[in-house]
Amino acid sequence: MRILVTGARGRVGRYTVAHLADAGHDVTATDLAPERPAPPDAPDVPYVQADLTDAGEVFSLVGGWTGREGGPKQGPFDAVVHAGAIPAPGRHAPHTLFRNNVMGVFDVVEACVRWGVPRLVNVSSETVAGFAFSERPTLPHYLPLDEEHPLEPQDPYGLGKVVGEEICDAAVRRSDLRVVSLRPTWVQEESTYEPFLGPLVADPDAGVTNGWSYVDVRDLAEAIRLAVECDLPGHEAFYVSAADTVGGRDLHAAWRRVYPDAPTELRPVDRPDAAGVSSAKAARLLGWTPRRSWRDVLDASGARRTTG
Ligand SMILES: NC(=O)c1ccc[n+]([C@@H]2O[C@H](COP(=O)([O-])OP(=O)(O)OC[C@H]3O[C@@H](n4cnc5c(N)ncnc54)[C@H](O)[C@@H]3O)[C@@H](O)[C@H]2O)c1
Repeated sequence: MRILVTGARGRVGRYTVAHLADAGHDVTATDLAPERPAPPDAPDVPYVQADLTDAGEVFSLVGGWTGREGGPKQGPFDAVVHAGAIPAPGRHAPHTLFRNNVMGVFDVVEACVRWGVPRLVNVSSETVAGFAFSERPTLPHYLPLDEEHPLEPQDPYGLGKVVGEEICDAAVRRSDLRVVSLRPTWVQEESTYEPFLGPLVADPDAGVTNGWSYVDVRDLAEAIRLAVECDLPGHEAFYVSAADTVGGRDLHAAWRRVYPDAPTELRPVDRPDAAGVSSAKAARLLGWTPRRSWRDVLDASGARRTTG
């Protein structure tokens, strides 16, 4: 398939471009940065610089025309993976983040509808549920979290992701576009396990409101590929998480200890250290199962495993 990946210079986008290209897809990458200098690990695929909040640039981009002399003019893509966004609140003014992320989805969806692109994979976020970046403390109604949980964001990032999913709902109502929204938990790559997850492994009393969930970026890239290749109709949303908790905590016991007053209902799990975010729907409808764990990279003290 001819696939356009937005946010291609970011953490999720880089791995996704490489994974889709390795799987034999014909990938075009796009991001805000100029084509050159390219980062050393940038996959060798066609690249187009564009700002996703500029509807005209997105319309040209999704239509498959780069304007490059001698370049391919093949028409609209078979699928678009939308991973271009500001990935967390706090480093931009709220309205700047909201406008960037919401208009990015709107422009991409609008272009897909008008060009007749059949498939969009919208990278959303677990933060749609609302407790990750909440201004007033709030906790899940129940764990493991699944797609039936209410969406109650307070912050501009989570709210923008909910609006983004609603933009996708509206698109499938009015067109033949099919959309999968993926809601990753905290995305990790090889270099982030130790600084981000290491302290949580080392401290059994550290709280994380998503029930100590995370996901390896390579597993996420695989979920994105399966979402691109699937034939699900309409718009479906899926949480995607590693199978286990950070540090291998017993989910129920750790939650009761760290959040003793939480109103959270603790539902049955298939393993004691099950992540607080369930990927069961993704397993059922996309055939996706996470293959990586923090245990592959860190030891029980949270330090990086030594090799050799
Ligand atoms: N990192 C996480 O833990 C996490 C968790 C859940 C969901 N997500 C989502 O995954 C997606 C990718 O996040 P990431 O972790 O790779 O972040 P990242 O910051 O590494 O990459 C995002 C990329 O999007 C690009 N971008 C942002 N605004 C743009 C615009 N207006 N036009 C063009 N490009 C733009 C940036 O330049 C950047 O390269 C985002 O939608 C993010 O919200 C990330």
